[in-house]
Amino acid sequence: MRLFVAFEVPSWIRADIGARVATVRESLPRARWVSPDAMHLTLVFLGEVEGERLPELEGVGTAAVAGEAPLRLRVGGAGSFPAGRPARVAWLGIESDRDFGPLARRLAEECARAATVEVDDKPYHPHLTLARCDPPWPRAAVADFGRAFSGGVGEPFAVAEAVLFRSTLGQGPARHEALQRWPLGGAR
Ligand code: 2AM
Repeated sequence: MRLFVAFEVPSWIRADIGARVATVRESLPRARWVSPDAMHLTLVFLGEVEGERLPELEGVGTAAVAGEAPLRLRVGGAGSFPAGRPARVAWLGIESDRDFGPLARRLAEECARAATVEVDDKPYHPHLTLARCDPPWPRAAVADFGRAFSGGVGEPFAVAEAVLFRSTLGQGPARHEALQRWPLGGAR
């Protein structure tokens, strides 16, 4: 099964983002926009994992985040991948009360070992994917997108758990199902 670990984004923040997207998408080039229901903040993409690894993942994931205090995040700023080139992915940035890159890296290492997979060792860049741009957007469109989403989007929000998701690909957008919830700092 195809797995990844993410923070959920509260529904009211996703609704705010969806409303802003609705006002700007007509003025931007063609793209596959992510539905507000599916927006999430990925910590680790594990890829294909054998189902029998799930119990071990639960132990490792739970332990990896248990010592972390809950975080306060805010969606803010816009950008695109690959940096400085025509955009294939347009995203919103994440402001946080502390750097959770080390948490993402530790989770990646420990979950990869438990799942017996290899994970990407590219630097972690927290982002909320909003659009997959096909064909890639020229720089002018990226600049328009950045202006449309400058500043913060929605209020700050707390995250108190990391969630192991199963992603199912098929016709249309991927479907995501929460399989395990790993509380931060004894939040549950
Ligand atoms: P993205 O939002 O930047 O596309 C499920 O696919 C989640 O895992 C998405 O949030 C996706 O990030 C993330 N992800 C990270 N690396 C990936 C990869 N190599 N292939 C597919 N998804 C990946």
